[in-house]
Amino acid sequence: MSGKGSDLDGLLGMMRKVPAAPARQAAAAPPVPAYDVGFETLPQYQQIKFQREFAKFGALDVPYYRLHGGRSGDTAMIGNREVVNFASYDYLGLNGHPEIRAAGEAALATYGSSVSASRISAGERQPHRDLEALLARNYATEDCIAFNSGHAAGVSTIATFLGPKDLIVHDALIHNCIMVGAQLSGAARRNFPHNDLDALEALLTAERGRFGRAMIVTEGLFSMDGDGPDLARLVELKKKHGCWLMIDDAHGLGVLGKTGKGLFEHQNVDPAGVDLWFGTLSKSLVGCGGYVAGNAVAVDLLKHHAPGFVYSVGMPASVAAASAKALELMNAEPDRVARLAANSQRFLKRAKAKGLDTGEAWGYGIIPVIVGETVRTLVLAERLLAAGFNAFPILPPGVPEKSARLRFFLSATHTPEQIDDVVDAAATILAELSDVSVQSILKKSNS
Ligand SMILES: Cc1ncc(COP(=O)(O)O)c(C=O)c1O
Repeated sequence: MSGKGSDLDGLLGMMRKVPAAPARQAAAAPPVPAYDVGFETLPQYQQIKFQREFAKFGALDVPYYRLHGGRSGDTAMIGNREVVNFASYDYLGLNGHPEIRAAGEAALATYGSSVSASRISAGERQPHRDLEALLARNYATEDCIAFNSGHAAGVSTIATFLGPKDLIVHDALIHNCIMVGAQLSGAARRNFPHNDLDALEALLTAERGRFGRAMIVTEGLFSMDGDGPDLARLVELKKKHGCWLMIDDAHGLGVLGKTGKGLFEHQNVDPAGVDLWFGTLSKSLVGCGGYVAGNAVAVDLLKHHAPGFVYSVGMPASVAAASAKALELMNAEPDRVARLAANSQRFLKRAKAKGLDTGEAWGYGIIPVIVGETVRTLVLAERLLAAGFNAFPILPPGVPEKSARLRFFLSATHTPEQIDDVVDAAATILAELSDVSVQSILKKSNS
């Protein structure tokens, strides 16, 4: 290789002949523009500050980032006090179940607390494959891929399948991860009014032809409203207009359908009509992560191109094993799904009888009590907590203006008394609040 006349010799000779660069006078650096580099100058921070000051002025309790002790389930430990919890996604009452704990602990002992890096390079562990096989079976799809975050799964999936020449059409109340995915993909984005499939059809008729690929995305059970779409009609529309259909059934799994399989079981629709079943492990499956179930090609594409999968660590094997066990328990104990449905229907019936505004909620797992004004909603949450019930307030921009609400998440393990008591307490407090102006509520808190 180093023989005379080799390419290397030639290159070395050329390098030796390169004349030394003449010393240059350092040019005067241009003046640094006066950028405002303080994070506190960001408008988002001004908004946070305003909210804190407003809460302080009104002596309102800020409900964000409270410290909880113990597990999240039908009860919660807040400030060393146990309260009945209506703010947990543990729909089936499985968080902390001994069999789930044992499955997680066994995987932790075998595989350690981390799989170190992306599964594409650091390898897969058996619990990843078992979980994905169980999820694929739930939807009768060829395959499934499990991400370490539900949000990342949504973002990455949209951004993998759609590009700047394409179109995404979604329900106006779709989860943030779909919106962020749409932005990342560069696809044109349109939304249709909540669950209005006539409007979706009109939109597709007017716009579909101008784009390459198109995807319709909606939720199976909306997390803010507790209602959902007509799946059979969605399948019909996606076929007619040549689109992919993705359903975010994060809240449907474990909640909808006789055995908790989700929206398709609830509405008796063949799941094969949906191209991508998306969901999360953080709700009924009491873990952490997201998944997409679909045909083998779609999953293959995601495994090789989804940024949040290829460039991110695989989920810990212990989390995969725990969620797989939760899914097995859901399948083995359909009574949990039935009890959740009975509890939810009980809540809905009683709330309606008491004149509470539950919107269009179907009465499965999620029931909002729509209050309207932010201050009244915050005070309702605060007084309910004082009475021993935790329900989380959802305020604009999380929901449309004037539709602030408390969201109640039911669990299979709530008792009928707990449900009746919280509904009655909410109705009593709201009645007290309805006669007084927001100003006087604030003054009252401030006195
Ligand atoms: C409908 C919906 N999709 C996606 C997500 C994101 O899932 P995760 O919190 O598991 O990341 C959520 C989270 O609450 C959700 O409600």
